[in-house]
Amino acid sequence: MSEERKSMQTSDAVNRAREYYNSSDADNFYARIWGGEDIHIGLYDSPDCPIGEAGVKTVEAMLALLPENPERGGRLLDIGAGYGGSARRIVKTRAYDITCLNLSEIQNERNRRRNQEEGLEDRIEVIDGDFENLPFEAGSFDAVWCQDSILHSGNRRRVFEEVDRVLKPGGHFVFTDIMQTPEVDAAALADVYKRIHLDSLGSVEEYNRYAESLGWSVGGFADHSQQLTTHYLRVHDELAGKRSTLDGGISDAYIDNMLQGLQHWVGAGQAGSLRWGILHYIKGE
Ligand SMILES: C[S@@+](CC[C@H](N)C(=O)[O-])C[C@H]1O[C@@H](n2cnc3c(N)ncnc32)[C@H](O)[C@@H]1O
Repeated sequence: MSEERKSMQTSDAVNRAREYYNSSDADNFYARIWGGEDIHIGLYDSPDCPIGEAGVKTVEAMLALLPENPERGGRLLDIGAGYGGSARRIVKTRAYDITCLNLSEIQNERNRRRNQEEGLEDRIEVIDGDFENLPFEAGSFDAVWCQDSILHSGNRRRVFEEVDRVLKPGGHFVFTDIMQTPEVDAAALADVYKRIHLDSLGSVEEYNRYAESLGWSVGGFADHSQQLTTHYLRVHDELAGKRSTLDGGISDAYIDNMLQGLQHWVGAGQAGSLRWGILHYIKGE
């Protein structure tokens, strides 16, 4: 695809997400408060479960949905892959070779560095790119994986169409996303929308409609909505507690804004306006 056509198709939301995740404030925040491995909602056994441990449990629960023994050489694409923590975990237990695609070049650099440090660069490739315009041939992947990234898209249907194009027939799409309940009043989510610079979130019903129109079958939705509130409360408290020890690197304005944003997620979660969980679809043969 020509650069000109690509940039015309790049939605505003993509540019804003790139700018945000490339900022040194965000990079330092995710590296120092979230551990620089995972930036996704965890599955907490108890409210004081460490954030990193809960994040690993989400990866394990998603992995359980994928075929146990893909033949050697099976390819998995992680879209919106962050620092690649999930990819490093998956390759250690499964035969998939992984492609991480992410629009943040800063995160991708960290991802590549960590893969090299762990000797995993032959199993994990890292591509700078946009999941609304996947730079891969049709039918390239056995599975597509995504954690808490589609909420940044200004064109969610387009993401599904792109996933459909790059999946092999019978391939799996497993992802988590922060969604809204279908009956929610948009005004109740105004602060949340403002934070992500969009005017809606996806919903299970919306994703099921896309899947149906693409001829996919629904593997299921594991509803863990209460975990969203637990998670953002934990991140909020961790940031507030560590604030005085951060010693530069993350600006005060960023921290204030982040603490407020986390409270909005928690408030909307407690009000029952948000949903979060694991979705699983299978492309038709
Ligand atoms: C909340 S983070 C989740 C990261 C990762 N999935 C994880 O679990 O740690 C959202 C990620 O989506 C990426 N992202 C947002 N919009 C994207 C787009 N259009 N194309 C590719 N990546 C995108 C961001 O750069 C960021 O890494």
